[in-house]
Amino acid sequence: MPFDPAIDARQLQEAVAAIRQHTDLEPELALVLGSGLGALADEVEDPVVLTTAEVPHYPQSTVEGHAGRLVIGRLAGRPVLVIQGRIHGYEGHDARALGFPVRLAHALGARGLLLTNAAGGINPAFGPGTLMLISDHLNLAFQSPLAGPVGEGEVRFPDLSNPYDEPWREQARNIAITRKIPYREGVYVWTSGPSYETPAEIRFFARVGADAVGMSTVPEALQAAALDLPVLGISTITNPAAGLQDTPLDHSEVLEVGRQVRDRLAAWVRGIVAESRL
Ligand code: 6GU
Repeated sequence: MPFDPAIDARQLQEAVAAIRQHTDLEPELALVLGSGLGALADEVEDPVVLTTAEVPHYPQSTVEGHAGRLVIGRLAGRPVLVIQGRIHGYEGHDARALGFPVRLAHALGARGLLLTNAAGGINPAFGPGTLMLISDHLNLAFQSPLAGPVGEGEVRFPDLSNPYDEPWREQARNIAITRKIPYREGVYVWTSGPSYETPAEIRFFARVGADAVGMSTVPEALQAAALDLPVLGISTITNPAAGLQDTPLDHSEVLEVGRQVRDRLAAWVRGIVAESRL
């Protein structure tokens, strides 16, 4: 069933109104924290914390390591909305629902969207613990939150020639260099999951230019493009993708490496939040 843009807009207003009952802080930036990367939310000062269940129409997350919370407050001095516990298509949400958090962030006033995720490494130089600034993506889930009628304030055919904002990426590179945070840059491929890939799929992704693979981020970037909201994306490589190591893939490995690199990621994100000019 295609969604109704009028109902969609009203639901968004109800979600905004529910949040406004708790705070009138206007977030400048929205951050989506990926698997095992949620700790940054604890650094938000004077936080107003809501579970996503308290926000009307917010699609509910079910994954381990993905507590659904919205934290609104100040990080590195700037007003932010931190979305902890993202929703994924493999939980059964339709593609439109995956854009809801981004539409909400935009409606609350966010001027930039910083997306983080845990991803499998395809580029053999990107081992576990690598932080990868996303330069571009491949949508191999072949889904879009923009399918259906045109949502309010959205464009029909968003341009995707700069899906991960280059001027913002340049700032992020400089912030990493100044703070001596090692990082790589590469292409992220979105698969629908929930199974990890086969070795043949990973060889295919490598040949078409992918450096890392994961089950998120792209739908949010697509939603942001339709709203003309600049996006920055950072992947934490948690494990080599299938066929690139001898042991089978395991979600606990993903969470563990996330914990190990979170200090570096947190330092980078703090710097980005403090210094970005959008
Ligand atoms: Cl290997 N694949 C996908 N799709 N997502 C991941 C991953 C691999 N490792 C962490 N997240």
